[in-house]
Amino acid sequence: MITLTETIEVPRPVATCFRYVADFRTTVEWDATAVEANKLTAGPIEQDTRFSVRCRAGRSYLKLAYEITEMTPWQCLVLEGRGRWFTVKDVITFESLGDNLTRIHYVAEFTFRNGLGRIANLAESGFIKMGRASLQGLARALKDENPPPQASPGTQKKDGKLPTALACFTRHGYRRGQKIWHPMSADMTGKHVVLTGANAGLGFATAVSLLEAGATLTVVIRDPAKVSDMQQALKAETGREADRVELADLGLLAEVSALCERLLALGKPIDVLINNAGALFNDHAETAEGIERSVALLLLSPWKLTEALLPLLQDHAHPARIINVVSGGMYTQKLRCTDLIMTAENYKGSVAYARSKRALTVLTELWAAAWSEHNIVINSMHPGWADTPGVQTALPGFRRVTKRVLRSPAEGADTIIWLARASEADQVSGKLFLDREPRTTHLRPSTQESPDERARLLDWLSETYSRLNLSDKG
Ligand SMILES: NC(=O)c1ccc[n+]([C@@H]2O[C@H](COP(=O)([O-])OP(=O)(O)OC[C@H]3O[C@@H](n4cnc5c(N)ncnc54)[C@H](OP(=O)(O)O)[C@@H]3O)[C@@H](O)[C@H]2O)c1
Repeated sequence: MITLTETIEVPRPVATCFRYVADFRTTVEWDATAVEANKLTAGPIEQDTRFSVRCRAGRSYLKLAYEITEMTPWQCLVLEGRGRWFTVKDVITFESLGDNLTRIHYVAEFTFRNGLGRIANLAESGFIKMGRASLQGLARALKDENPPPQASPGTQKKDGKLPTALACFTRHGYRRGQKIWHPMSADMTGKHVVLTGANAGLGFATAVSLLEAGATLTVVIRDPAKVSDMQQALKAETGREADRVELADLGLLAEVSALCERLLALGKPIDVLINNAGALFNDHAETAEGIERSVALLLLSPWKLTEALLPLLQDHAHPARIINVVSGGMYTQKLRCTDLIMTAENYKGSVAYARSKRALTVLTELWAAAWSEHNIVINSMHPGWADTPGVQTALPGFRRVTKRVLRSPAEGADTIIWLARASEADQVSGKLFLDREPRTTHLRPSTQESPDERARLLDWLSETYSRLNLSDKG
């Protein structure tokens, strides 16, 4: 048997440290050998929760199945791991040394199988070194002092060529990005997040992760029949439901205004607003308010929602964050306000979609400049290509061809979650992100809009809104 014993002190409250370590998926962020970790059981993290962790061992990998066998909240965790060559028992104790200081004591006992004990004893010093490096990694993760986000030179190079930029949209792009990410240990307890389109796809994956991180979650969905299923699914995954559900068809600006009035009347400050709801419509149609439905849902709706909710977002002690979910499809289009509303004659769903997403990307830049003095940071992100219900119904042919390289919804949602949660993500505003890095907004010079067109966009939005067939314009 080899026993490793390490102690660290970190400047974080004991509850934050405990929650971070108990979610053993975080081992990939701090353990010296872990490269992949998954939670195998649904539900909140508690006794009996199981994880699988893949670790590097020399030139190969080994898989460990972990289970939490004892859990005393904020005090002690015991995990037992089983692999092909050894079992390990981790006993982790937490001691509060003040509001913002915690001592973590870590004991790992390795028991080797199949007569490997003698060989393992020879490797004891290597094990001890590895244990020390892991605990130093945990201390770094919990210190949470990551540098401001910036694009790595490798990423800038990939964005310089169309094929390599597109390759980043796949799950291989996500895996590549993951290798250089910093730990994300920020606790969202007490942070109020408003998230649209939370019942499916990327929105649902975002809701799960933000509930796990402790956020207070208001979700906006359109279909009352989906509320109960969504809440049950969130509870099954995380042990929590969304704190508040607001119903609104976001394709209808009157419903957007009514939603804003309800949230303003409630008066609860918003720390993070995530404009995620969206759809690609293959056929042309106008909403009951007399406007083409892509531009209504993908552009006018987030514009109206965000502008109207400003009183709840601005001038907090910590920057409020706004995240606009756009699409890599926007790289194909140039902003021209006169082209944003497509007619039935020239309509193509993917083009209408991409034009609105391009406009929302530009709007993000304009808002970032205008609202920095109100302590608001606003960024857009695109998820790459993720296998969601939206892609399954709107793009079945694309999905058939790309199925093997599509990201999971959680992988597609990762940058939304990171922009909402990571401490360092409020140090940059007005950027477009993919895989936690700012990316170029143009892959071809021909899509660069003119300064006049940028200047026109806000007026175009107000004028278009004022022409809508609304009974009561809020
Ligand atoms: N998946 C991708 O590869 C990908 C790529 C680029 C960009 N995106 C963007 O990512 C966001 C999420 O997409 P997704 O792939 O997760 O799609 P999804 O699976 O179809 O989920 C979209 C969500 O938006 C909601 N929604 C749609 N129309 C709405 C309306 N009129 N009012 C209120 N809610 C509405 C949907 O509600 P219902 O369930 O009621 O329809 C659903 O909750 C979208 O903005 C999309 O454009 C996705």
